[in-house]
Order: sequence, then structure tokens, then C-alpha cells
Amino acid sequence: MRTKDKMISGFSKLTKSEKITWLVKHFFKADPIETAREFASFWHTNVQAQKLFDGISENTLTNFYMPYGVAPNFLINDHLYCVPMVIEESSVVAAASSGAKFWYKRGGFHAKVQSTNKVGQVHFKWYGEDPVKMYSFFNYLKPLLIEGVKDITCNMDRRGGGIKKVELLYLPEIEEGFYQIKADFNTCDAMGANFINSVLEAFGEILIKEAADYEDFEGEEQKVQVVMAILSNYTPECLVKSWVSCPVEDLGDFGDMDAQTFATKFVRAVKIARQDPYRATTHNKGIFNGIDAVVIATGNDFRAIESCGHAYAARDGQYRSLSDAKIENGQFTFSIEIPLALGTIGGLTKLHPLASKSLELLGNPSAEELMQIIATVGLAQNFAALRSLVTTGIQKGHMKMHLGNILTVFNATEEERSSALAHFADKTISFSSVREFLDRLRDGTTSNSSVAIG
Ligand code: MEV
Repeated sequence: MRTKDKMISGFSKLTKSEKITWLVKHFFKADPIETAREFASFWHTNVQAQKLFDGISENTLTNFYMPYGVAPNFLINDHLYCVPMVIEESSVVAAASSGAKFWYKRGGFHAKVQSTNKVGQVHFKWYGEDPVKMYSFFNYLKPLLIEGVKDITCNMDRRGGGIKKVELLYLPEIEEGFYQIKADFNTCDAMGANFINSVLEAFGEILIKEAADYEDFEGEEQKVQVVMAILSNYTPECLVKSWVSCPVEDLGDFGDMDAQTFATKFVRAVKIARQDPYRATTHNKGIFNGIDAVVIATGNDFRAIESCGHAYAARDGQYRSLSDAKIENGQFTFSIEIPLALGTIGGLTKLHPLASKSLELLGNPSAEELMQIIATVGLAQNFAALRSLVTTGIQKGHMKMHLGNILTVFNATEEERSSALAHFADKTISFSSVREFLDRLRDGTTSNSSVAIG
């Protein structure tokens, strides 16, 4: 089929079945009816529920399933949580659970929200020449901006949030005549993206109108071009810290590694991630394994959380670890400081039935409490990864989890699974070694009884 035959106009106007039929015809080689059936087989059995999912995004054909699991035993500020996690990587929930259990026995995690400020910007070009004139116009404009968006902000104001600061920045380094209205917001328990963007777009309109009417402006000075009005996903002042601490000897032994050796190696591993961007990227990826999983489970925006976290990790010009570790006076401390702009009301948090179940599972937390929980899961995840890395290495645990997935690919029966688990307990797991094992088992050249779990 030629590429231009795959071009389509009005795709979004087709019904869901028509979309699938078109797709199957143009992009799949297998039997069209079977392929279409396969897509449809993932539709929700409850028509109303499916309607809800269809409405969340555009051109929805079906649902993409991801495992929803929980990591119990998270003791945070003396409160015990069972944390929901949505993630496809097989060892993540197990690692978070194991990190949580480890620290449960050592007093749990401590977490504190440092600040909750969010930022929005109206970027604009002013065609006048004298910045001093623009600044005095802005003094006149500022109360009009705040008054002019009262209908948008009144509910948030009532809840103690709203606009906290509005300032003008002159940015000739971007281009001559470039300015920015920078606004700070408190969005209470909402992530607040729609709220902030609505306020900013209204700011832009008020700015254009007031500049045109301002009596001290004449000619070109009355002209403003709003380039864009949008929130910033960089929220370094929406910051939370989580940490664990205990005497080094309370860490216990790790196989044949004693507590002091473990703690020293662990602190060194973090030091490497603070200095080396190659390692820092993997280190932080491990942190986001935990963070993203809870962010998704609670219906929050993981892209916003990721981009902000990585920008924060590079705030001094070099990409570094988001966590830190030290040993001081015989005390081991491991901590994370990370910006997390989260919401527990509005958006998908209430719309998605499982997001709302996740929040209920967490005791319907405030946004600040959720910041503490999610930063802590990131820290626990990072702890579990580093603990494996500086002791046994990660592959042993990782491949054990992966073994289950490989066995699924080969349609292994329950009996074959038990045999494989026993067989690979002390052997290297790879796709081909599992295939060979199953081949031998199925040929009868490996005795079932000789490898059964005892
Ligand atoms: C794997 O998804 C994450 C790790 O690579 C993180 C790390 O290396 O710290 C284990």
C-alpha cells in the first residue's frame, strides 16, 4: 500500500468501530476481523465505564492495560500507608515494598513540604522603547489584572489560594522589547493547570486592551503582542523533602557485608550520582520508577512531574542525583528533595475510577500529604535499587521477576512455572536459557520431579 493511501481526513469523526476497521485495513496484515476483535476485546464490559474512558482522550480505540499494584508498609510521619502503583516494570513494586518494610523497622520515613508555589508566565513584546515607561504602566496595570480575573479566582481565593504575586520582568536578552508578566499561584489541593492558564490568558487580554487605552502611551507604545500565556511546569518552589535516618549499626548485615561497609558503599554510590551525569540519569530514573507509578495511579500528570524533576536536578547547571546520603557521627541519613506539583482534586483524580480509588486507599490526602507520600516512594525506590547495586547487583532480583514474564511469553503451565522457578533459583536467567529449559521439559529430557520446588 502506498503511503498516501494511509492519509485520512475526518478520522476523528468516524465511530470507534469505523476507526478500527480503517486502521486494520490499512496497517495490519493479519485477518481483519480477528484483528478488529482483538482491539475490541479490551473494551470495558460496562458500557458507561467505556464511555468515560473514550471521553478522556481523542481518537480512542480501546484501552491499554497496565498493572495496578500496591506497596504496603509505608510508614511516613508515623502514619501507615498502602501505596497504589501503576507500572509495567516487573521489579518496581517489589523494590518499593521492600524499601518500605526495611525502613518501617527503623522508625519509618519523615517528610516535610517546604513550599507550594506555582508559576505562570505571559510572554509579550512591547513596541515602545523606554522600559521605564513600561514599568510605570505595569504599576497601573497590576490591580486591573487582579481585579479583572476575580470571576476565575474567587473560589480558589475562598479556599486560601489564588494569585500570590504578579511582577514584570524585562528580558532584552531574549529579544529587544521582550517582557514577561510572572505570576505566583497557590492552587490548594488542585494541580491547577487549567486555573493558572485561564488566569494567564485573561491577563494577556487585559494587557493588550489597557496598553491600547493607556493615556501616557502614544503611537507604537500602545501596541503589545502577547506571544503566549502558559503555566511553567518548572516549580522549584513547590518542594518536598523526605528522609530516613538511623545509626549505621542498625542497618544490619547484608549477606556477608557488614553495616559499616554497606553504608560507606551506599554513600559513595550516591556521591557518584551527584557528580556524574551518566550515573545521575540512571539513579534518577530509578527514583521516577517509584514516583511515576504513584503519580499515574492517583491520576496526576507524570510528564509534568518528570520534566520538572529533571530540570530541578540540573538547577546548578549540571544534572545531578535528586537524592543525597551521608554518615555523620555514626548516623546514616538518606534524603530526597524534589519539586512535585500534584493535585488531589479536579482533573483525572476524580474522573478516573481507579485514580479516585487510589486516593481513597491513601486516606484522601491533601495535595501536600500526597507530595510527602510520593517523594517518599521515590526515596524508598532509590534505596532499594542502591541496596541491590552495592551488594548483590540488580540482575538477580530483576531477572527473577522477569522470569515470570518470559514464562508467560512461552505459555508455561503452572507446573512448568514451578519447575522453572526452582531450576533458575541459582542459575542465570535469559530468554534463551528459559526457552531451552522449557524445550527440554516439554521433550521429557528434564525430569519434572528433579526440579520441583521443595
Ligand atoms: C531500573 O529500572 C532502575 C535502576 O537502574 C536504578 C539505578 O540504577 O539506580 C536499578
